[in-house]
Amino acid sequence: MNILVIGSGGREHALAWKIKQSPQCGQLFVAPGNAGTASVAQNINIDVEDFEKLGKLAIEKRIELIVVGPEGALVKGIRDYFEADPSLSHILMVGPGKSGARLEGSKDFSKQFMVRNGIPTGKAKTFTANQINEAYQYLETLQPPFVLKADGLAAGKGVVICASKEEAQEVIREMLEDKKFGDASSKVLVEEFLEGIELSVFVMTDGKNYAILPEAKDYKRIGEKDTGPNTGGMGAVSPVVFADVTFMKKVEEKVIKPTIAGLAKENIPYKGFVFIGLMNVKGEPFVIEYNARMGDPETQVVLPRIDSDFVELLIQTAKGELTSTPVPQKDKVAMTVVMVAEGYPGSYEKGKVIQGLNKTTNGLVFHAGTKENNSEVITNGGRVLAVTGTGSNLNEASQEAYQLISSIHWDGLYFRKDIGDDLKKWSGSL
Ligand code: AMP
Ligand code: GLY
Repeated sequence: MNILVIGSGGREHALAWKIKQSPQCGQLFVAPGNAGTASVAQNINIDVEDFEKLGKLAIEKRIELIVVGPEGALVKGIRDYFEADPSLSHILMVGPGKSGARLEGSKDFSKQFMVRNGIPTGKAKTFTANQINEAYQYLETLQPPFVLKADGLAAGKGVVICASKEEAQEVIREMLEDKKFGDASSKVLVEEFLEGIELSVFVMTDGKNYAILPEAKDYKRIGEKDTGPNTGGMGAVSPVVFADVTFMKKVEEKVIKPTIAGLAKENIPYKGFVFIGLMNVKGEPFVIEYNARMGDPETQVVLPRIDSDFVELLIQTAKGELTSTPVPQKDKVAMTVVMVAEGYPGSYEKGKVIQGLNKTTNGLVFHAGTKENNSEVITNGGRVLAVTGTGSNLNEASQEAYQLISSIHWDGLYFRKDIGDDLKKWSGSL
């Protein structure tokens, strides 16, 4: 069947790479894609939120299955658009409609959803611009540090962790009064801080059944030893040593099952990925956030570990025919390191020529912010490449990833040299 992947990052390159391996994959398209997706699929230069053009493309190319990568298109209702048009409604789509995408699009909605469905999460309350004093009073009931969350999508920047009450008050005022994140911060959650270690869990669901994909750990900070500002993700590892059978069983029973049952109970149709950001607090899972899509760069380590026909899983999800059987996983470790442009996550330059890509025959070099320019590949974003190594243990995976990186160069590139180090030294205690 002809398949369309929507998006242009490392996640979409990894999706296209995995989809292409399936015997069920006919022609593969990525919109808009990048220089990496062009090597496994045909790129079509359409914006991810231009539903009208995407609809025309789907008809013209006889697309039978669409996989939506980024959250923006889901929150804006790409599924609702396709379902409402009789010439498009037959096309299978992996990605929830607007109502399901609220799990990611509104932190207030997702917090209330967790509370209603008995899913463990941090204590929190939501406030609007005319409730600033109430928000300040609520701070008095919590211990520092304080977690403040803009309700809506804020390009990954909407969560602020404040060490002191004074700082938290100032940020609450900036978010609500000064609209620091525009409409996204017209509501703000004040949340208790959860102390622990983070884990990303991925589930495919058709709204009734679910399939758990390999878990991953993401490295969010720009600097080594987890210092400096947050980014979209500087690296990832799968599997995660502390996500042992006992912990994952708790995640399934206390988080995944009530999440899927909650969607059904609340009549929220959902055919797509649920990415659950968890904090492991002394061996107990607490949900920090839901996303209605796969993670980036987690996808670049999750998909290389799936040992089955991924297109079959996508079809079952989109058709509502998933069976809740475990997804076969390869018994190997995958680690990805994100190579970024100098200045990221602040301002950075684009258009630098990337050298050494053709030497990278072993391992997986997923493109994120790249584009083709004549016969060269140039940088076209902050996160430029995600280089995945695999091996029978984390040391081997790490060696492969960093060896691949050593042959790639552009002006001003930066990457963290300590991805996975905390897990290599893992002592087994939290
Ligand atoms: P998010 O944008 O929801 O992914 O949150 C960004 C980051 O903020 C998370 O990855 C966590 O590191 C941190 N965070 C969010 N909520 C909490 C919380 N309740 N306690 C501690 N850290 C949190
Ligand atoms: N890596 C985190 C995310 O995709 O949201």
